[in-house]
Amino acid sequence: MSQRIDVKDLNIYYGDFLAVQDVSMAIEPQSVTAFIGPSGCGKSTFLRTLNRMHEVIPGARVEGTVAMEGVDLYGDDVDPVAVRRQVGMVFQRPNPFPTMSIEENVLAGVRLVNKRISKADAAELVETSLRGANLWEEVKDRLAKPGSGLSGGQQQRLCIARAIAVKPQVLLMDEPCSALDPISTLAIEDLISELKRDFTIVIVTHNMQQAARVSDRTAFFNIAGTGKPGRLIEMDETGVMFASPTEKATEDYISGRFG
Ligand SMILES: Nc1ncnc2c1ncn2[C@@H]1O[C@H](COP(=O)(O)OP(=O)(O)OP(=O)(O)O)[C@@H](O)[C@H]1O
Ligand SMILES: [Mg+2]
Repeated sequence: MSQRIDVKDLNIYYGDFLAVQDVSMAIEPQSVTAFIGPSGCGKSTFLRTLNRMHEVIPGARVEGTVAMEGVDLYGDDVDPVAVRRQVGMVFQRPNPFPTMSIEENVLAGVRLVNKRISKADAAELVETSLRGANLWEEVKDRLAKPGSGLSGGQQQRLCIARAIAVKPQVLLMDEPCSALDPISTLAIEDLISELKRDFTIVIVTHNMQQAARVSDRTAFFNIAGTGKPGRLIEMDETGVMFASPTEKATEDYISGRFG
């Protein structure tokens, strides 16, 4: 199950510092949305507001709404832990738990939610999650070995398996390939294209080719200068954004004339 997200008039603060200003956008279900823009424009900050990970930073807060299928994730009676279960996250650097086995890594998120999962159910979930992350064939004979023994690209797919094992509806990925070699990067990109059948996916990337290859829609963020807030400059179908953006700043960034 995959869901749409509607962001309206979102301002994002770290204490008194307005880091991202006045973002409104729709994120379509079962598609890939890419966030691009220069360093410091607030891509990661904005991404973290989509699963309420922003507010774990002391002093961090938002104004505005982030609605999933019409329900505001910041509503008074919404449990942030439940939000993070529905909206999973994969980070820039693969971060498997080093002392845990491959299978326990896959189950780590699930065990927080369901302590009594049976051995048979756990084994089945490990297999379906690793298959979903395109990693099963490579690790099926060493599930009890430590996750840290895998290559970087395999570790990132392990983290994706861990994220999808809790059956989220949305998957947020913050530069998931930036620590990977080109072959592993292509493996993750293929995987993203498959995952979008089941999930709403949002990916932050500095790689224009990657945004063009994997995403259906692209959002360009920019910043007017140090200390100024980041803003959403434009968002459109990826083909349109790369072929004929409306804003000159977008064109300059995409064609590498930025800065
Ligand atoms: N924990 C924090 N506390 C205070 N300010 C922060 C924090 N994290 C980020 N910022 C600030 O918020 C602004 C946006 O940062 P953010 O990391 O979201 O940018 P980004 O677009 O993801 O950049 P990059 O491409 O380098 O990852 C920056 O000015 C940054 O210094
Ligand atoms: Mg970032």
